[in-house]
Amino acid sequence: MNTHATAPAPLARRLEGRVAVVTGAAHGIGRGIAERLAAEGAHVVIADIDEAGAGKVAADLGNGATAARVDIADPASVAALANAIEARHGRCEILVNNAAILDVAGIATMTFTHYRSILDINQDGAIRMTLALLPLIRKAGPGRRILNIASIQGLRGTRDSLAYATAKGALVNFTRALACDLADEGIVVNALAPGYIDTRMAQLPDGAGHEHDAAWFRDIYIEHGRIPLRRPGKPVDIAGPAFFLCSDDARYVTGQILPVDGGLSATF
Ligand SMILES: NC(=O)c1ccc[n+]([C@@H]2O[C@H](COP(=O)([O-])OP(=O)(O)OC[C@H]3O[C@@H](n4cnc5c(N)ncnc54)[C@H](O)[C@@H]3O)[C@@H](O)[C@H]2O)c1
Repeated sequence: MNTHATAPAPLARRLEGRVAVVTGAAHGIGRGIAERLAAEGAHVVIADIDEAGAGKVAADLGNGATAARVDIADPASVAALANAIEARHGRCEILVNNAAILDVAGIATMTFTHYRSILDINQDGAIRMTLALLPLIRKAGPGRRILNIASIQGLRGTRDSLAYATAKGALVNFTRALACDLADEGIVVNALAPGYIDTRMAQLPDGAGHEHDAAWFRDIYIEHGRIPLRRPGKPVDIAGPAFFLCSDDARYVTGQILPVDGGLSATF
């Protein structure tokens, strides 16, 4: 049996007027989350290192969406983004730390310099963004949310994912610790742990197509049901759970990591 991803009908604009900053929203999962938050009424800041891509997404979204170039590995760039959001909106209700890069390397080829360069983006980028935007989140009204996009690789180990998995594991426990620190202020902090999602990140090097189209992937994950729902996910599959964790319905959910992986992490 196969199941198909279809976009859920938009709900009743339950984020009307809230300011939401989504990093890495020019493409893939971030774009999917930004589209959903905008459909629910949020004014979304598409914050991405790809300025042109961010501009295109902001134009497509409308509803007061704006584009901003940011390199989450660069403290000056992150500070400039925070200043620009303060000048335009004066506050921020929702921060989605989504931007990251894939790294396929194990201990055999790893250098410390390379390892640190991946952590600088995939781990420290989210922490840098959180520290920079926290003053604006504190100025916001009800419904203040921080959502980190981790990975099932932050919950399990795999080969050739040393820096990526280490960074995602750190993001998982950053989420829990930050949730404890901000609970008294009513700021809810959670994370999603996506499985295999159909984005640019899932493309094999040298134009070899998508990983999930490879024969070995189809055999193990689809035919043999290692992914019980028997398909890779799509950004829209992440957008719904992301919306929930950014909504008022998540008011009593904090410090939690939700796998969104078609059931992959439920198997062995
Ligand atoms: N695709 C998957 O299978 C999968 C699985 C688990 C987790 N994730 C996570 O989901 C998130 C989104 O990944 P995706 O699959 O949509 O990837 P993607 O490559 O399609 O999108 C990543 C976005 O981040 C931006 N970006 C990269 N470096 C940046 C930087 N330094 N500063 C600002 N923006 C930067 C890119 O320009 C791009 O728009 C990532 O955190 C990724 O680790 C993805």
